[in-house]
Amino acid sequence: EKGGYEHFMLKEIFEQPRSILDSMRGRLELEAGHLNMGGIRAYERKFANAERILIVACGTSWHAGLVAEYLIEDLARVPVEVEYASEFRYRNPIITERDIVIAISQSGETADTLAAIDLAKSKGATIFGICNVVGSSIARATDAGAYTHAGPEIGVASTKAFTAQVTVLTLLAMIVGHQRGTLSDTKLRELMMELSNIPSKVEKALLLDAEIKQIAEIFKDSTNFLYLGRGYNFPVALEGALKLKEISYIHAEGYPAAEMKHGPIALIDENMPVVVIATKDSSYEKVVSNIQEVKARKGRIIAVVTEGDDVIPGMAEFVIEVPATSEALMPLVSVVPLQLLSYHIAVLRGCNVDQPRNLAKSVTVE
Ligand code: F6R
Repeated sequence: EKGGYEHFMLKEIFEQPRSILDSMRGRLELEAGHLNMGGIRAYERKFANAERILIVACGTSWHAGLVAEYLIEDLARVPVEVEYASEFRYRNPIITERDIVIAISQSGETADTLAAIDLAKSKGATIFGICNVVGSSIARATDAGAYTHAGPEIGVASTKAFTAQVTVLTLLAMIVGHQRGTLSDTKLRELMMELSNIPSKVEKALLLDAEIKQIAEIFKDSTNFLYLGRGYNFPVALEGALKLKEISYIHAEGYPAAEMKHGPIALIDENMPVVVIATKDSSYEKVVSNIQEVKARKGRIIAVVTEGDDVIPGMAEFVIEVPATSEALMPLVSVVPLQLLSYHIAVLRGCNVDQPRNLAKSVTVE
């Protein structure tokens, strides 16, 4: 049932061109030039008039929520707050009937996320769910929602569910942005076009597998890793670090690249691998300076760059080239090499990648 792959995780990483496509199928209609998301239809006005959107989730789903914060604020200009469900539920949060709460969960069974929903519901907020498992507790507890169509995810470390969540959240941000008039027809069409090209770009990123495996060989005995990114790639840095921690048991931290100088830079020496997501976007120049800062301290740089970049290859020890896309869609592509890197490192260390120690696929206890 692993479809010829050695592990479910690898199979699921490789399924992403398909699962991303499935998550936009019937929703993104390029020819007709419009977007459809059944779950949002009855709430379109509510979304369009929302004063703010709260997002609650845990783990990787929380990272998808962070990407959504950038997407929704950027495209739809609605203020967004992203909360760990476990903190939100216990800190007496301010919630009103005017709020929309988006709950994100692969399993749909995460206890803290479910409790956060119940709390928000009791205050009269509208709850929108983004779940992968059909008929799950969270899907049933929400007022409306959209399923991700990633298919069953067996590997404990979430991969295709993450990219499916980001796909659905991208569609949502585009729909709300267009409705609110913050996303023009032209910009909408452009993004629709780019989004429809994402599966083939992910396919291309997957061709990097052998190259990434070689990088994994070199760093498999490292005891620490730092992951840096800015803007849309900041949540990707967090997700890259989480994937590595979970399955290889190597300590890793994700940071917004500019925060490095406020602490983590002290960790950098010739033994520290630093994965920098440095694709060509509005923060590119600044990330290049961050790379220089790491280099000056002899950190070992593994950079994820846009194809054709001719600056970073002269600075980084290893360069992983991914296809170019719109800044807002880059997480869907840039996360892929990081999933592969953690997978190969874990396998080389002899870890049980599909069932890492101490972790469960559904966290049904708080
Ligand atoms: C990471 C991972 C966990 C889950 C988290 C939330 O690879 O698997 O961090 O993302 O437990 O789970 P769901 O999305 O099922 O609510």
